[in-house]
Order: sequence, then structure tokens, then C-alpha cells
Amino acid sequence: MPAEPASAHAADNANGGASGPLSAPAALRIFSGIQPTGDKHLGNYIGAIRQYVDGQDRGEALYCIVDLHALTAAHDPDALRRSVYDLTALLVAAGLDPTRCLLFRQSDVPEHTELSWILCCLTEVGRLQRMHQFRDKSVAQRELVNAGVLFYPVLQAADVLAYRAHEVPVGEDQREHLELMRDVARRFNSRFGQGGEVLVVPEHRIPEVGARIMDLQEPTRKMSTTGGSEEGTVYVLDEPEIIERKIRRAVTDSGAGIVRGADKPGVSNLIEIMAVARGCTPEEIEAQMASARGYGDLKAAVAQATVEMLAPVRDRYADLRADERALDAILAAGAQRAKAIAAATLTDVRQCVGVGALSAAPSAAIGTVGR
Ligand code: TYM
Repeated sequence: MPAEPASAHAADNANGGASGPLSAPAALRIFSGIQPTGDKHLGNYIGAIRQYVDGQDRGEALYCIVDLHALTAAHDPDALRRSVYDLTALLVAAGLDPTRCLLFRQSDVPEHTELSWILCCLTEVGRLQRMHQFRDKSVAQRELVNAGVLFYPVLQAADVLAYRAHEVPVGEDQREHLELMRDVARRFNSRFGQGGEVLVVPEHRIPEVGARIMDLQEPTRKMSTTGGSEEGTVYVLDEPEIIERKIRRAVTDSGAGIVRGADKPGVSNLIEIMAVARGCTPEEIEAQMASARGYGDLKAAVAQATVEMLAPVRDRYADLRADERALDAILAAGAQRAKAIAAATLTDVRQCVGVGALSAAPSAAIGTVGR
């Protein structure tokens, strides 16, 4: 899937690794995280999950189910545990292959929380308070704005920086979190790196098309697990008839032209969904739909393309979800290998910041996935 081009900085990281006294991975390392809360929707699938699958062929890919982040919202403990299995099965059904990537649960690798604390001590509270997601959530959770909501982006930074990842595939809504992560890594390096890059400053990878899939009923707000409309949210595991119904009822705009535009959020959203589902550009979709009789034709075509895109995931999901032992084995193997990488980074980090026993030599934090 085309994505916003990585900058020269990413190329430096990918080619050269660290310039300094400590080690960093030489290959392209890709990391992303996804919350186990709620059912995953078309936005998650198009903006993120498809990129995860693609990442397996592009580099050393690590994907983390961030159950600790999920604690920032009120939750039921048993449901949270179950939803980690749901998401593991969904990701494998979508094409993650545990022999070609690391798939693991965040809470199985305590290095994330240790690094998060260290990074908290390098992050201004004011910046966290100004972040969009904090402001949105603190309005929504009027009764209890827990400190976890505020520090959420720092744990996210730790997730990535613990692996010295070069690239982070995400949707558009994560851009601000990525900027914070990059600034924290730079600050760490300038304060403790002795002129070298102890932590890799990662690049986001945001797809050019489908980075922000909108709610079908309210196309000016993003499709989301919390706060979106049920009828405007297509879930990855929705039955084909449900998907067709939701897309048929999508809110469109005045005027009949099937073209994208700032004044046509509903139609633009449908065109982007179809472009991704068909594997072509939005311009090609506009050309293909030039002779359509109206929005009805567009919706029928988008519904068909979406059903076809999601059908293989739905077909594989039930069998995978039924075998919790197999899912446990995937997560345990992923965590074991992830821990080895993160522990090596933490050895260097502790050394640099002056906590823990002095260790004899910096670690070699280079890992390979799928071997
Ligand atoms: P989460 O679980 O909310 O979403 C997972 C991924 O789905 C993308 N996404 C969308 N993309 C396009 N259109 C949409 N409407 C849409 N909605 C969601 C998100 O951008 C994301 O990539 N904070 C993260 C989880 C996280 C993480 C990390 C991500 C924790 N640690 C480290 C990257 C690296 C989140 O809540 O994602």
C-alpha cells in the first residue's frame, strides 16, 4: 500500500544504525501497537492492519497488543483478557504470520513500563496536557480523568523506543503521538547519548490513501470504536449483509458527482475505501465511476469491494479464535523474543541514565525476526 514516504532520516537509520558508542539494529525494524478494546473496524483494518501485513515483507516486524494502554478506560478484567485473544486471532486471520513477525502482548514484556517511567522523567506535563487525544478523552471521561490517560503517549513512546524501531505504521490519528515519541527519543539521546544515538528516532508510516476512514453516518468524524455511530462503523467481522446495509445507508453529499472534494466528505470516504479494497488509486475509482447513475451505484460497488476484501479474514477467524492454546503459544513465543530485544535496550538505557548496577559492556540489541 502506498504510504507517506519515509524521510532521509529513516534511510539513515535503516542503513547505518547507531552512530555512537552503543549498538542499534542495522536492518529496517518495524513496530506497531493496537489496543485490544472493542471490535476492530474498517478504519483499523485499512489504516493499520493492512500495513502490518505488508511490513512482514519489508523488514523485521514486531506487533504488540497493548493491553496496558487499554487500562486507561473503564474495563472488565475477564473481557480484557478475552479481547486479547480476539485480537490475536483477528490479526492472524488478516495475514500476520507468527513465523515472519513477532506478535505479542504488551504486559508480557515489563521493559515497556520501566522505559515508560524513565521517559516520563523527560517529558513535559504541559505538552501531554495539550495533546488532542488527552483533551478529547478528558472531556469524555469527565468523572475520572486518570493519570494513565495523560501518560498514555509516553507508554506508547516506550513501546517503540524499547525496540529501536525505525518505522511505525499507523493511521493519521497517531501522528501527534509519533511526534512526541520522536522528540522524547531525541531528548534522551542529547541528554544521555554522549554524542551517539542510544534510542532510534522512528518515522511514522501513514498510508497515502485510507489514513483516516470516516464514520459512514457522520463523515466528518473518524470511524472509531468509542464515540462513533454503530450504523456508521463497519466491523471487520461484520456479516456481509450487515456491511452491505451499512454502506448502502452511508450519508453522502448534495450534488451527484462521484469525485472527491473538501465539500464531499461522504463521497470522498467511499471512494477511498473502494480504492483500498480494489488496490487502485482514488483517481482510477473516479474514472471507473464516471458513467455511474448516481450514489446508489457507488455504494453498491463499495459494498461489494469491502465484502470481498474482508471475507477471507472472516472465513479464517472462527477456527483461529477457537484454539486459545494455539493463540497462547503465539503470544508466548512472541513475548519471549520481544523481551530479548527490549531487555538489551534497557540494559543500555539503565547504563546511560545511571540506574541499576554498572554493566561491563553495552548490549548488542540486534535481533532478527522469523529465523
Ligand atoms: P488503536 O488501537 O486506536 O488503533 C490501531 C490503529 O488503527 C488506526 N486507526 C485508523 N486508521 C484509519 N482510519 C481510522 N478511522 C482509524 N482508527 C484507528 C490507528 O491510527 C492505529 O494505527 N495509541 C495506539 C496504540 C499504540 C501504538 C503503540 C501504536 C500503543 N502503542 C506504538 C503504534 C506504536 C492506538 O490507540 O491505536
